[in-house]
Amino acid sequence: MTTRANIVVIGGGLAGMSAALEALHQTRNAVGVSVALLEKEARTGGNSAKASSGINGVLTRTQKAQGVADSVKAFARDTERSGHGRSNETLVHKLTEDSTAAVTWLQKEFGLDLDVLAQLGGHSAPRTHRRPEVGGKPQPVGWSIVSALAERLGAFARDGSGRFRLETGARVTQLLKASDGGVAGAEYETANGARHRVQADVVVLATGGFAGEGARPEFLRQFAPQLAGLASTNGAFATGDGLRLASALGAALVDMDQVQVHPTGFVAAADPANPTKFLAAEALRGEGGILLDAQGARFVDELDTRDRVTAAIFHHCATPDTCARHNSTTSGQGPSAAAFLVLPQAAADRFGLGSLGFYAKMGLVSRADGVDDLAAALRVDAKVLRKTLDAYDTARSTSGQSDAYGKSVFPEAVAAAEAYFWGVVTPVIHYCMGGLRFDVRTRVLRAADGAPIRGLLAAGEVTGGLHGVNRLAGNSLLECVVYGREAGRQASMEVEAL
Ligand SMILES: Cc1cc2nc3c(=O)[nH]c(=O)nc-3n(C[C@H](O)[C@H](O)[C@H](O)COP(=O)(O)OP(=O)(O)OC[C@H]3O[C@@H](n4cnc5c(N)ncnc54)[C@H](O)[C@@H]3O)c2cc1C
Ligand SMILES: *[C@@H]1O[C@H](CO)[C@@H](O)[C@H](O)[C@H]1NC(C)=O
Repeated sequence: MTTRANIVVIGGGLAGMSAALEALHQTRNAVGVSVALLEKEARTGGNSAKASSGINGVLTRTQKAQGVADSVKAFARDTERSGHGRSNETLVHKLTEDSTAAVTWLQKEFGLDLDVLAQLGGHSAPRTHRRPEVGGKPQPVGWSIVSALAERLGAFARDGSGRFRLETGARVTQLLKASDGGVAGAEYETANGARHRVQADVVVLATGGFAGEGARPEFLRQFAPQLAGLASTNGAFATGDGLRLASALGAALVDMDQVQVHPTGFVAAADPANPTKFLAAEALRGEGGILLDAQGARFVDELDTRDRVTAAIFHHCATPDTCARHNSTTSGQGPSAAAFLVLPQAAADRFGLGSLGFYAKMGLVSRADGVDDLAAALRVDAKVLRKTLDAYDTARSTSGQSDAYGKSVFPEAVAAAEAYFWGVVTPVIHYCMGGLRFDVRTRVLRAADGAPIRGLLAAGEVTGGLHGVNRLAGNSLLECVVYGREAGRQASMEVEAL
């Protein structure tokens, strides 16, 4: 069957939903402009639904209420530093400058209380927003955001105007080429194997990254073969489809070898070798969690950027003596490099006991009563552990200075907690910095001459060039909202100009 829509958005994660909503909003006064959203899974949400640490923004109501001094400039500097100078400055400028509007959009337009702030690795101020627990119940940030947007889209789909349609179970297999070399729509396959076509004026690619390729790595094998064998946090749908679709039309790929390894994926005691791992949210360290090797010693600034913390775990926790493991884990079954993540009670309170309870129920986190109990659980020498924790608190009380590992932000004291929460963590494939080369108006650029491919836009993890060689925590949800909405604006402009 062949249908028609002015704008087709491919991928129902945060970038795709933001694009669809913005396009609907922009064209609300234009009669007959239609938007179709195609999602290959049975439900929308993608990896966006899994996000647990938060979304970045400066000069937000939350920062103001908490008296945080911050600026677009400081945020842009942190982002560029984290990307080791490889980020496109124009793209970073828009990301950071539009961050206030992005968080405000979620707060005002969707009533999301993004009122908890954390200072995560590589940030010079607390600017990563997430939701407070409600009555002890966790309100995971990614899930909350995509649910709110999906609800709004659902209302559009049901409003009888025919302006919006969502099709799930619709896997796009090809982009239709127009005679001028631009894009004329998409071809997709439904669950029962039927093939359909939708003709369109503009196509927005929002298919996410390829960090979920799993057992059949293609992009990973080609661009980052050194990561073979590492577990991933991503859903199995993250297979880089959009990169293939756009490459077939001559799109340029950039920084494809830059795949982020997140330092802390949870190793489950009962299933240490599982290739898919639950993420130990960066906010666990942001709120005061520390990392220890199997001897009970620290080895890194827990709030350094992800690439550095990952490198430290590989470097310091990869021998039988230093690799952390669960008591119950038979040797050889878990990952070859792992650390203990330990939160004192105060950090646990700040992170949210409801969310920790969720991790505990999954068998990822355990509780220990006091230092001796913790030492026994980790099977480390209690004297060594006590020394480690005391040294941390001493450094913490020497304000303004950094400790032996370069740590200068110490959220909570660790030595005298009445209880500790701990788990085993290992580096995991997490995010693709690289992807389609795009410009600040979200136009996908051609490899041959750098010119935009007419009618083809992209936003979210499918794009590359914004994060350089290391994405800063909380910048991905932000890019989905900023560039997703930009794609919606650009698409509606292109349609209305026809
Ligand atoms: C566990 C976890 C925690 C994270 N935590 C954070 C965090 O706290 N803060 C932060 O900023 N970032 C975080 N990230 C990163 C961030 O969530 C993602 O990078 C971001 O949400 C990607 O959004 P997206 O819309 O580009 O892609 P996705 O949300 O992955 O959506 C892409 C969608 O496209 C669909 N699709 C793919 N191919 C096709 C096709 N051929 N046809 C039709 N549909 C297709 C997929 O099924 C999917 O639903 C986290 C990631 C993970 C995995
Ligand atoms: C950054 O992106 C802009 C377009 O948004 C482009 O004009 C510029 O050339 C890019 N810079 C680099 C260094 O690639």
